[in-house]
Amino acid sequence: MNNILSIGTRLRDRYKIIDVLSHQTAFGITYKIVDSHHPNKPTRILKQLKKTTAAKLDIEYLSTSKQEIILKQYWLECLRLFRIESQTLAKLGENYQQIPTIFEYFDEQDEYFYVQEYIEGLSLTTEIRQGKRLSESQTISLLIEILEILEYVQTYPNYSVIHRDIKPENIIRRSADNKLVLIDFGLAKEVTVSGTKIGSIKGGTKGYIAPEILLGRVSFASDIYSVGMIGVFAITGEDPAYTATLAENWQSKANVSQEFTSVLNKMVCESYKQRFQNATEALVALRNLLKNTPHSQLPLKLISQLIVGIVLVIVVISTIIITKKTDTTLIADGKEQEGQLTQSDPKELINGKHYDIYNFTSGKQKYLTVEIVSKNFNPTFTIRKVNEDNFISVKNISTKENNFTATFMLENGQYELKIKSINMALGNYAIKAWVTDK
Ligand SMILES: Nc1ncnc2c1ncn2[C@@H]1O[C@H](COP(=O)(O)OP(=O)(O)O)[C@@H](O)[C@H]1O
Ligand SMILES: [Mg+2]
Repeated sequence: MNNILSIGTRLRDRYKIIDVLSHQTAFGITYKIVDSHHPNKPTRILKQLKKTTAAKLDIEYLSTSKQEIILKQYWLECLRLFRIESQTLAKLGENYQQIPTIFEYFDEQDEYFYVQEYIEGLSLTTEIRQGKRLSESQTISLLIEILEILEYVQTYPNYSVIHRDIKPENIIRRSADNKLVLIDFGLAKEVTVSGTKIGSIKGGTKGYIAPEILLGRVSFASDIYSVGMIGVFAITGEDPAYTATLAENWQSKANVSQEFTSVLNKMVCESYKQRFQNATEALVALRNLLKNTPHSQLPLKLISQLIVGIVLVIVVISTIIITKKTDTTLIADGKEQEGQLTQSDPKELINGKHYDIYNFTSGKQKYLTVEIVSKNFNPTFTIRKVNEDNFISVKNISTKENNFTATFMLENGQYELKIKSINMALGNYAIKAWVTDK
């Protein structure tokens, strides 16, 4: 068994583990790390190949020597897939923004790793949720966005890939440009000749996995099924992971056009031979639906989208103006400053929470500690480097009664610290800050 590395561990004297994101799946362990060799100390993702046990493979009834042989074979196959995963990703992500870039593959003390780009954003599980239905046109647009990535990975010369685990958790909407990024190629399989191939290691997620994969038959159409099931989830508001029969009876749970019904049915039909065979075919059908939208509806739709757009621009501009007005400089002299979170503070568009922004300029690399004392609300802190990054939430806030303290490591540059309340509570607070070298 390989050990899950603990937070704080350093690898290659360079990568420091700051979080364990996942160790539940069979093949890999996913960590959030910081690359201390890079001048910007960026966050990255580290993948470690996981070892298995006789119990997990259900072969404990065999003699020890047989178990060892099987475990060895299994490990070699995992290692092969892990290498393929990193090489394929490295190729596919090289000049393409919607797959994480791979930086390095290495092994250390018989453990195997690769380092990949960290995508800041939220997964599709926040856009598609149980009980929330998207409209037909929203669902079509979302499917097109996903299929465009799939088309890229399916048509890449010599490195085309079947992902085999497409589901909302494995698609992140990057906050920087609002584009989708496909992650978790842990089960991906290189396809040399397009068409079908027998899989040697099974995986995938209930509800999204194409039925033929369970029989060991994998093809590009298997990924079309998974994307289709994301569409089914979006349009019905029901998660296929929990409703077994959704692929067959989703139509009774949604109110959609005949045309879209037949396209989605063709994506999720049980027989892979009758499905769209690849992303390009599915894209053609979905784009045709958009083209064939009755013209009389178009102007109305356009006008309403335009109005929504204008309102959004006004809201964003006024938020920026308000934000600018209420910007305050944080003086790190250890003295208390008074603050107040009120209804008239700017608020976040998504969750409606009011916030205060503090500016801080850091001359050299140092640690900034910020302490908030408030009887009215429990604060959360997010921080970003101005003009460079998105706000990152700070998790290690220490709490003592009404006293909340967090420490940030800063480089040279200008930062913005955002203070808001965990819930919607508002009120007075005192803020104190100081810097240290460690
Ligand atoms: N490149 C990445 N950028 C940001 N978050 C990631 C990235 N890769 C993985 N994650 C996060 O870690 C979680 C687990 O990683 P994933 O690659 O999906 O492995 P698993 O096979 O365990 O699902 C993801 O659901 C996502 O939240
Ligand atoms: Mg995953």
